[in-house]
Amino acid sequence: MTTAINSVELRSIAEGAAHSVGDYLRKAFRGVMNVDQKRDQHDLVTEHDRACEEMISTYIREHNPGAILFGEEAGRIDAEGPATWYIDPIDGTSNFVQGLAFFCCSIGVEVEGEIVAGAVYDPMADNMFSADANGAYLNGETLKTNPALPAGAATVITGYPTAKDLEIDGDEFALGVFNSLVTDFSSVRRTGSGALSLCHVAAGWTDSAFGASVNAWDVSAAMFVIRQAGGTYQDIRYSEEQGHDHLAPGYIAYGPGGDFPTLIKAREDLIKNRQR
Ligand code: IPD
Ligand code: CA
Ligand code: CA
Ligand code: CA
Repeated sequence: MTTAINSVELRSIAEGAAHSVGDYLRKAFRGVMNVDQKRDQHDLVTEHDRACEEMISTYIREHNPGAILFGEEAGRIDAEGPATWYIDPIDGTSNFVQGLAFFCCSIGVEVEGEIVAGAVYDPMADNMFSADANGAYLNGETLKTNPALPAGAATVITGYPTAKDLEIDGDEFALGVFNSLVTDFSSVRRTGSGALSLCHVAAGWTDSAFGASVNAWDVSAAMFVIRQAGGTYQDIRYSEEQGHDHLAPGYIAYGPGGDFPTLIKAREDLIKNRQR
């Protein structure tokens, strides 16, 4: 089996797995739920995150026997492979808890150290973003990223890293970076789902995105979608050890032709700040 055929099949399984929790999430949204804090008040989990991860894992195991699973809630579950599945059952849990309809299910697939397929499903808008070796897709149609607007006219979607996320003292540094975005872009949005925001860049619905505290389950699928759609995704690694198997903890991303010195500087400053 060639990688190309393999990756098409893997994409189809990723789409099926993400789609399999759509009805569940739509029903659970805005209902009564148990909310627990994981690390702190910025890091929430509900019974629905865990239930969806279980459903997704069952689906993947059925369709890809031997799958190595790496989910946000259950951690890594080893098997013979060769595919590793990065699963974020709900990316944007805070939005889901609040009743804000901007969250998604994200599933990225890695083979031999490379992401080869991915699916990001927005159950409220019923949008399936996906990618394989041949390209990127939105609801099955080929997806090509539009050119980005010039910086002063462009929009950036960002996550806001806390001092704890960055493992530094105080929020001043991150606030300074945020301030530079507010000054230099036409508009700044903090949407609360890194994966869905990146897919909005891939679809040309926003010009750029910047995130500084993510994990492989957050970004593996969306990174692949945006690259396969012709956009740029550049990671932010704070050290040499942050190898591919965990993907990098940060990113800047934009549409073709994007020229965003503020994002490039933010990326460089983050790397420098962490090296001190
Ligand atoms: C979070 C979201 C958020 C990003 C955080 C992630 P979760 O994922 O993607 O946009 O800023 O770093 O942890 O916890 O909602 O799955
Ligand atoms: Ca989380
Ligand atoms: Ca996430
Ligand atoms: Ca999550």
